[in-house]
Amino acid sequence: MAKLGVNIDHVATLRQARRETDPDPILAARICEEAGAHSIVAHLREDRRHIQDIDIVLLRKSIKIRFNLEMSISKDIVKVALQIKPDQATLVPERRQEVTTEGGLDVVGNRKRLVSVCDHLQQKGIMVSLFIDPDKKQIEATKALNVPMIELHTGAYARAYAGRSETKELAKLKAMTLYAQKLGLIVNAGHGLNYHNTAAVARIAGMEELNIGHSIISRAVFVGLKQAVKEMLQIIKF
Ligand code: PXP
Repeated sequence: MAKLGVNIDHVATLRQARRETDPDPILAARICEEAGAHSIVAHLREDRRHIQDIDIVLLRKSIKIRFNLEMSISKDIVKVALQIKPDQATLVPERRQEVTTEGGLDVVGNRKRLVSVCDHLQQKGIMVSLFIDPDKKQIEATKALNVPMIELHTGAYARAYAGRSETKELAKLKAMTLYAQKLGLIVNAGHGLNYHNTAAVARIAGMEELNIGHSIISRAVFVGLKQAVKEMLQIIKF
């Protein structure tokens, strides 16, 4: 069975809407842990629109399951990551104007900077994963960096699924998962996955972990967070 990483950013989005203390992302992480999630994902964005520095300090101390920090490769954010030492760092592209992470990291174009960032993180014992589009060139460039893990961007698949035309995008995800696995990479996936479109991705052979945020936090509004996580775990299990 693929593992489930729950992204709790949008608990912090709600809190930041009032700049108060509720709802508390740390409590959310503990509830996800209790419900059976395998890791907690939080994205410390450069504009601090949801998760704050104090959140990742507290998350680091408060959960027993893996802490996966999603982060850009900017100097300031890398400095924070090296201090906090999450179990895992998932490197993502970041643009201030975007609503959410729109595409995968351009590993080919950012090679020089990535060599240095990955080295620094890996020297601290942090497992590094690169968030990339399901594309051969990006997979090969990741492999060349000596990074052990990738997360395939499922945004295009999710959009196609919503339009009932996901066959091609799903086939691409399957083929690129297999290609990366053959090169020795551990393969995760995420972005835009929800209670309808996740099952097919979870069934891709050898898929290690799915990272899911928006749909779980949205469902939690109606059924509670514990139940929302359990329902997603049920879909991933087969
Ligand atoms: N994985 C990565 C690398 C992401 O950037 C995000 C969004 O923060 C997710 C997974 C989760 O995406 P969603 O909120 O659409 O489930």
